[in-house]
Amino acid sequence: MTRIHLIAGARPNFMKVAPLYHALTATPWAEPVLVHTGQHYDAAMSDAFFADLALPAPDHHLGVGSAGHAEQTARVMSGYDALCDRAPPDATVVVGDVNSTLACALVAAKRRIPVAHLEAGLRAGDRGMPEEINRILTDHACDLLWPPSDDAVANLRAEGIPEHRIALVGNIMIDSLVALWPRIAAEGTAAALGLSRYVVATFHRPANVDDPACLRTIVGELRRVALEDPVVLPLHPRTAARLEAAELLESLRADCGVRVIEPLGYIAFLNLVSGAAAVVTDSGGIQEETSYLGIPCLTVRPNTERPVTVTHGTNRLIAPAEIAERARAAAAPDCRRPAQIPLWDGRTAGRVEASLRAFLATAGDTAQTVHPANG
Ligand code: UD1
Repeated sequence: MTRIHLIAGARPNFMKVAPLYHALTATPWAEPVLVHTGQHYDAAMSDAFFADLALPAPDHHLGVGSAGHAEQTARVMSGYDALCDRAPPDATVVVGDVNSTLACALVAAKRRIPVAHLEAGLRAGDRGMPEEINRILTDHACDLLWPPSDDAVANLRAEGIPEHRIALVGNIMIDSLVALWPRIAAEGTAAALGLSRYVVATFHRPANVDDPACLRTIVGELRRVALEDPVVLPLHPRTAARLEAAELLESLRADCGVRVIEPLGYIAFLNLVSGAAAVVTDSGGIQEETSYLGIPCLTVRPNTERPVTVTHGTNRLIAPAEIAERARAAAAPDCRRPAQIPLWDGRTAGRVEASLRAFLATAGDTAQTVHPANG
């Protein structure tokens, strides 16, 4: 059996790893091994997702916890390096763009463990985002790259990555959404909150929440949205801490128009999104999920690494001060249009499995091509 480490560190990783874990489990050739770095550790940010996505407890937990970027990345690197000494894999798969992604890609690449990146090629063109640095460096460290869409393939080519390292597979997150749709549709998140028509908001990007003036603008705009439709705000721990520091949290919790709630699990959250009049967010993955579901999405960022959600989907980029005005227009009743994006079909994990199997069958040759200086 070929032992494959699947790396998951933070909340947005779990719904990308799960479909591949299940696909590899079903094959006779692969033994998927779940490695949780511990970048996210709260039950609401981690354990709830394992339960919803039918993932077993991780085989290995590195327990790195929160820290600055350098220290967090370094802790994951030393933790993963030690794990590779104790229980070396035949290949490593990293997903997304968090610090754990880059850290494990670097460790595997330097140990000459074949390493693949799922969700490769996304670029916002904004090096001010920590995730953008992680995306670029991870792609260049990895042997095999799995982009979700044509624009991501074009980004990799433009950076000189050779064709044999790229395999267009589609969007793995949509696999989780499709597989769990019956349970998502049956959940009653809004009803439990006593809501029928509402707007969902999520914020956690440092560019939005670490600047108190920007955070104040966002809170003021959400209050204006709530004059027309109640706003549900599942609060990311980073945002809760920043609201508290800016002395905004208490009054926001007392607000009856903006409903501040704890972070939700995967199924409960997607049920909430699927019934929303509109979503206001700075998340990456939610841009894709709303596009697939046809829910209007306003992304409070100057750019996106997922432009296909703007060109083909329901996503619009807006400034913080535009939230109330744009939400009013987006929440109009005729705005639901599910996007048809090639290969966002719920079958990406099968294509990834086939690509990985083919790649590993020729891994010796590929490693020589990719690392000629070390050969
Ligand atoms: C990380 C990812 C980001 C992703 C986001 C989703 C990087 C660089 N960023 O950002 O791409 O969109 O996760 O959530 O990897 N905290 C807790 N409990 C937890 C996790 C975090 O309380 O389980 C708090 C800590 O105080 C921490 C802060 O949240 O300092 C930020 O967490 P961290 O993982 O460093 O980055 P995120 O902002 O969550």
